[in-house]
Amino acid sequence: MARILIIYSTTDGHTRKICQRLGRVIEQEGHRVTLMSIDDEPDVDLNPFDKVVLGASIRYGKHSKQVYRYIERNEQILDRKPNAFFSVNVVARKPEKNQPDTNPYLRKFLKQISWQPKELAVFAGKIDYQRYRLWDRQMIRLIMWMTKGPTDPGTVAEFTDWEQVDAFGRLVSNM
Ligand SMILES: Cc1cc2nc3c(=O)[nH]c(=O)nc-3n(C[C@H](O)[C@H](O)[C@H](O)COP(=O)(O)O)c2cc1C
Repeated sequence: MARILIIYSTTDGHTRKICQRLGRVIEQEGHRVTLMSIDDEPDVDLNPFDKVVLGASIRYGKHSKQVYRYIERNEQILDRKPNAFFSVNVVARKPEKNQPDTNPYLRKFLKQISWQPKELAVFAGKIDYQRYRLWDRQMIRLIMWMTKGPTDPGTVAEFTDWEQVDAFGRLVSNM
């Protein structure tokens, strides 16, 4: 049994939901899981954990600054343990952009950091226009229009492939 930390950065909660699902899969595989938000626990000590998974969503093309800071502060200890990173974004709803080596945000992110996660994943996120402030709603609708996605302002669309999440959970269990 391994002690596995899943730490996440979320704005609207979807990355947390993915982490909760990962947590259930990993627990079913017999491990002990701790879930934490990077905003609540920016200084969490990684020493007690055997493996670490970091997940973060994209907003306007970027992961949050907290994610970069967290990686900078913890890179050495991360490197000593089995570790994984995953990104959540809606571009990943496109089959040709849903892999670590085909998703433009993950590719760019990996060039910006010196940490090289041992395992990687990209998951398609969620759109819920009514949750967003007017400016964000209009911007995301515009991006969706340009990329042939749903633009109806009442849209709630979860693009996440949960089987892909489950498979990543099993991978993390065995890494
Ligand atoms: C204000 C805003 C900006 C976003 N920008 C992007 C973007 O640039 N590219 C993208 O693929 N998805 C973008 N998204 C989609 C999010 O990545 C998606 O909604 C994800 O599920 C959010 O996860 P979270 O709830 O964990 O923050 C954006 C969403 C919002 C609300």
